[in-house]
Amino acid sequence: MKVFINKQIPETGIHMLEEAGLEVFIPDHDNLSREEWIGYCQSHDMILSVGSEFKFDKDFFNECPDIKAIALYSVGFDHVDIQEANRRKIPVGNTPDVLSKATSDIAFLLMQSVARRASYNFEKVKSGNWGDFDPLHALGQELYGKTLGIFGLGRIGYEMAKKSKAAFDMNIIYHNRHRNEEAENELHAQYVSFEELISQSDVLSIHANFKPEQAELFNASVFEKMKDNAIFINTARGGFHNQKDLYDALAEHKIWGAGLDVTNPEPIYKDDPILELSNVCVLPHIGSATVEARSGMSKIAAENLIAVSEGEKMPACANP
Ligand code: DGY
Repeated sequence: MKVFINKQIPETGIHMLEEAGLEVFIPDHDNLSREEWIGYCQSHDMILSVGSEFKFDKDFFNECPDIKAIALYSVGFDHVDIQEANRRKIPVGNTPDVLSKATSDIAFLLMQSVARRASYNFEKVKSGNWGDFDPLHALGQELYGKTLGIFGLGRIGYEMAKKSKAAFDMNIIYHNRHRNEEAENELHAQYVSFEELISQSDVLSIHANFKPEQAELFNASVFEKMKDNAIFINTARGGFHNQKDLYDALAEHKIWGAGLDVTNPEPIYKDDPILELSNVCVLPHIGSATVEARSGMSKIAAENLIAVSEGEKMPACANP
């Protein structure tokens, strides 16, 4: 069977695929047009897909009806029409677990950066304005004993809650589709309604899988109800927040600050006014960007395709 990978990935997975007797093709440039991408998908049996630039929507499945399996190089699968894949019985793999620590590390880092005003202070240093010791200037806020609200308490949300509890003894509240017993037992996390989550959190951190019906769920009406010392963290998907409303809430100091590893749109425009604000820290979607996580993702993606080539179920499958 022939596997098309649209971008170089850590070698672990490529070696595994080749050792399993699969023929691997990676183009020599990674700025493929959709036309080129579809052409490669049509001439291969299976796809190991890196990034979410190209959508696996109905058009894709109509244009590539013979595809046997898709292994995503991501835990998120919001760029795949899962219902259509189910209808056509095409397994779609993802990469859970291996990136939970790395991604929650970024949420944790953003939480602290915003609380201690890292962007503002870094800009001061870069502009040669170190300043004298000033008891009243550049004051951050401490996180000890504060309330962390997690929207979407799955694997990544759990890791964020665990770190925050251990480091700052934060009180954990969460809103999720299902109750998370492990978090309730181990971290004394408390399940709350969405309204309670947004009004009680000192830090509100999004860790849910994105669904189209949740587009811009975090908008002006939500920011309005948040505490004025609240920190908004999004490391999940930019589509969860309305960026203009977030800008307004931050500029008008309705909330304390925001830490974003994902933006709306993504990539963010260079001249997006949110980048001018001193109470915001923005990173370029680097949640899983560690040697360990990226190599683990390469391994799981390969395992998913090898399983299909051997007539087995994918070990990490996003569709039933
Ligand atoms: C993921 O794995 O879903 C990351 O956000 C990268 O897309």
